[in-house]
Amino acid sequence: MRILSIETSCDETAISLIETNGDFPTASYKILGNTLFSQINIHREFGGVFPALAKREHISTLIPLLRKTLTEASENNSDLAKALALNKKEDKAGLSPATKEKLAEILSHETAMLDEIFTFFQEFKTLPVDLIAVTEGPGLEPALWVGVNFAKALAYFYQIKAVGVDHMEGHILASIFSETDEKLLTLEFPSLALLVSGGHTEMILIENWSSYKKIGKTRDDAIGETFDKVARMLGLPYPGGPEISRLAKIAREKNLPSFVKLPKPMLHSGNFDFSFSGLKTAVLYSIKDKTLNEEEKQALARDFEETAISVLVGKLKTAILENSVNSVVVGGGVSANQFLRQEINNLKNLADFSFLEIHLPAKNLTTDNSLMIALAGHKRKDEAQSPSNFILTTKASGNKSL
Ligand code: KG4
Ligand code: ZN
Repeated sequence: MRILSIETSCDETAISLIETNGDFPTASYKILGNTLFSQINIHREFGGVFPALAKREHISTLIPLLRKTLTEASENNSDLAKALALNKKEDKAGLSPATKEKLAEILSHETAMLDEIFTFFQEFKTLPVDLIAVTEGPGLEPALWVGVNFAKALAYFYQIKAVGVDHMEGHILASIFSETDEKLLTLEFPSLALLVSGGHTEMILIENWSSYKKIGKTRDDAIGETFDKVARMLGLPYPGGPEISRLAKIAREKNLPSFVKLPKPMLHSGNFDFSFSGLKTAVLYSIKDKTLNEEEKQALARDFEETAISVLVGKLKTAILENSVNSVVVGGGVSANQFLRQEINNLKNLADFSFLEIHLPAKNLTTDNSLMIALAGHKRKDEAQSPSNFILTTKASGNKSL
């Protein structure tokens, strides 16, 4: 089965084409094409992701990216190359007015991509793909719609089934995907997922592949968002997570003295919820009316990073023991954080946690990507809808009981 996947939930536009062999979760997955365009440079001057701009960029990037994915896939698979080349040679007749009208209706909020998609469809009359998977949420509503409507247009024109998938489920699957084995690693149930990104901080208890239970979430800012805001206070560019991490590492290497003692919000709250806005405010107060030199910034970055991560790991430890889980899966953009990875790996050295299987995503799969959407699409393939009765829509705050 070939799956084409589309991700546009935030500031990354990504398209993959994979070939699956077998059933979820034991199937093998061959990556035929995998492309991504990051909008970070465009959003940097605004200090964060600007939804209207993200939408515009997704609109202008999707078709070039689809072309790139198909080219890459053709290089990796001669059958696919033949099928696509054949399509190209077919009659050059234009699309019928009825088809154009229908596409204009589907893409009524993405009219800027209409001419380009007409040209694409004229060139590629069929697409050798069995399923389209698209992120339906959670994410930025205007950005999500572009991907979903693009998926609808492709599904309608090529008469392919499509399925909306949950971005967070994608992050979970990305963390257990082994690119060398082209397989998902076995997840030892019950498992606990710690999902940490720019928009989310959640703990999800996975009893089995069809039962997710959210046992904790942030009550205010997400962890990635907090890194970004603290970075901004220190005059560092967006996205702030990697910047804070870089300064914190220097502070550790230099063994700089502490700049400020920060609170560890809700560490002992008796539940698994998080709150990071108090920590953010404490950082703000600590620098009020001060001009920090480089070493003070480095020390503060480290104090903040270590405090925030000790809350995450502290709560994770309690949740592991209380729920008798056998494994932990960490996913989302913040899982790129070296200090967090180290602290989580160090759990294995503690007698209480030596049994624990730990799954951290490969570095290239920590941030948003479309490979994870293809994997989630395979998991949800039976929920796919045929193009004649689409109810494909966006779910900005997520679904699939995650
Ligand atoms: O999952 P993701 O790519 O997008 C969302 O779905 O939000 O996560 C992006 C977030 C940003 O807040 C970014 O600052 C953070 O992940 N991030 C990091 C690191 N790398 C990215 N946070 C801390 N340390 C890092 N090394
Ligand atoms: Zn994400």
